Amino acid sequence: MGKETKNIFFLGKGGVGKSTSSALTALHLAEKGKKVYLVSLDPAHNQSDIFEKKFSGKPVKIHKNLSISEVEIAFWVKKYLSDIQFQIKRSYSYLTAFNLENYLDIIKYSPGIEEYAMLLAYKNIQEKAKDEDYIIFDMPPTALTLKFLTLPHLSLLWLDNLLNLRNKIIEKRKIITKVKLGKKEIETDKIRNKLFQQIEEYKKLKIIFEDSDKTQLNLVMNTDKLSFSESALIVNHLAEFNISIKNIILNKYQKDFNTQEIEKRYPDCGLQLIPNSEKPLLGITALTDFLHVLKSFIEL
Ligand SMILES: Nc1ncnc2c1ncn2[C@@H]1O[C@H](COP(=O)(O)OP(=O)(O)OP(=O)(O)O)[C@@H](O)[C@H]1O
Ligand SMILES: [Mg+2]
Repeated sequence: MGKETKNIFFLGKGGVGKSTSSALTALHLAEKGKKVYLVSLDPAHNQSDIFEKKFSGKPVKIHKNLSISEVEIAFWVKKYLSDIQFQIKRSYSYLTAFNLENYLDIIKYSPGIEEYAMLLAYKNIQEKAKDEDYIIFDMPPTALTLKFLTLPHLSLLWLDNLLNLRNKIIEKRKIITKVKLGKKEIETDKIRNKLFQQIEEYKKLKIIFEDSDKTQLNLVMNTDKLSFSESALIVNHLAEFNISIKNIILNKYQKDFNTQEIEKRYPDCGLQLIPNSEKPLLGITALTDFLHVLKSFIEL
């Protein structure tokens, strides 16, 4: 049996320090001897700038225990669309006049494609990074991250309705043709089977996102009011989907700031303070030096 890999997500409002905190955490764990894979799932990547090294979809080793990659979302959108094309061709092989290319050109720009592509990339990373102790995901700002994390749940609602619809179609066809379809024929209905298969896949993802042992969400915030209220929105929204925040990372923390309000507001969360750095946190040397300034680091 493979070891249990922990998935750690850094999310929060734009500019609060998600990428910097994920880089610091990744380095901290790597220095402690853990095997770490840091992945940017933000289409507007920051890790290349932070580590001053060009990253791509392929992991690059920058420390004996740490590899980094920046997921190419465009690649996964293409992959997602070609998977759909394959499925449609297989399921509707009788529709030879159907112009699939035009149809795919339209869905390429339809809302939601980006989060499906991210989910596909995420699944691929899970399969490839089985030997890591930690996979750290540097996430996009709030809106896209919430869509990504709630996609399995929402897709399941949608798929459930599609399955009902398909069952009704099969029923109606039975009546129209007056040919009683045997149980076997219903079971081999390709579309129905595909729906079942997708339901299984999304169920697995939903369970992973809801399981706080497998998925740890770190919410990064700053001390300003806007970042506070957006963080509350994130926490409440995710709670509706049974997804909880494990730690609050208070970044760019000023010495005299009183953390009582946060502790009271989030009694079930751990709190990590990352002070404001005078020096720019760019390059592995600056990041490692800064880690040594941090007195303690949250246990993940
Ligand atoms: N603790 C810190 N001290 C000083 N500067 C910091 C600290 N954390 C982050 N920064 C700086 O703040 C800016 C934003 O940080 P970062 O890029 O990590 O945020 P982000 O949340 O990933 O942003 P985005 O939403 O654009 O992805 C950067 O210039 C970064 O160097
Ligand atoms: Mg970022």
